[in-house]
Amino acid sequence: MRQILLITLTFGLFACNQQTDNTKILQNRIDSLEIKLADTYKPGFGDFMSSIQAHHSKLWFAGQNENWKLADFEVVEIMEYFEAIQKFQSERKETQVIGMIIPPLDSVNIAIQQKNPALFKSSYISLTNACNKCHQAVEFGFNVVKIPDSSPFSNQDFRPVE
Ligand code: HEC
Repeated sequence: MRQILLITLTFGLFACNQQTDNTKILQNRIDSLEIKLADTYKPGFGDFMSSIQAHHSKLWFAGQNENWKLADFEVVEIMEYFEAIQKFQSERKETQVIGMIIPPLDSVNIAIQQKNPALFKSSYISLTNACNKCHQAVEFGFNVVKIPDSSPFSNQDFRPVE
């Protein structure tokens, strides 16, 4: 009887040790994954903004050319970049006021769906004003956005393909 007890006890201890070993291995893996994650490249707020700037410009020329398919594509790109900021730059305080850009973006989107050049122009102006309002609110007011005069993308044709 005592022998059986002893065997059970020894086996129990062994199993317990085995478990501590496994926990250690797992902890080491978590540690090294955390180090890898901290080193992974993540675009900065300014990187996203530069991309938004390009799409903001293209959106204008798409609208001016009544190329509604392209305009739709560009406005969705802008929306996706703002969503990416919310996801990847959640710790920046500026991200908290990002909601202010949603209503003007929605208005531009409505103008595009209605294929309405006048509404497109007025909602694009409101959008641009909202970009600047946010810059002022978050103390980046020296970054002034405006309606582009000419496309910096000479390698892209903004006319509709029909
Ligand atoms: C949530 C507030 C917010 C909104 C909305 C916003 N921006 Fe910005 N923007 C910023 C911040 C913050 C920076 C500075 C980023 C940094 O730290 O590098 C910036 C920087 C910029 C820059 C300078 C980038 C550079 O490196 O030269 C441009 C251009 C820009 N934004 C364009 C736009 C456009 C166009 C819109 C509207 C479609 C817009 N932004 C909407 C907050 C905002």
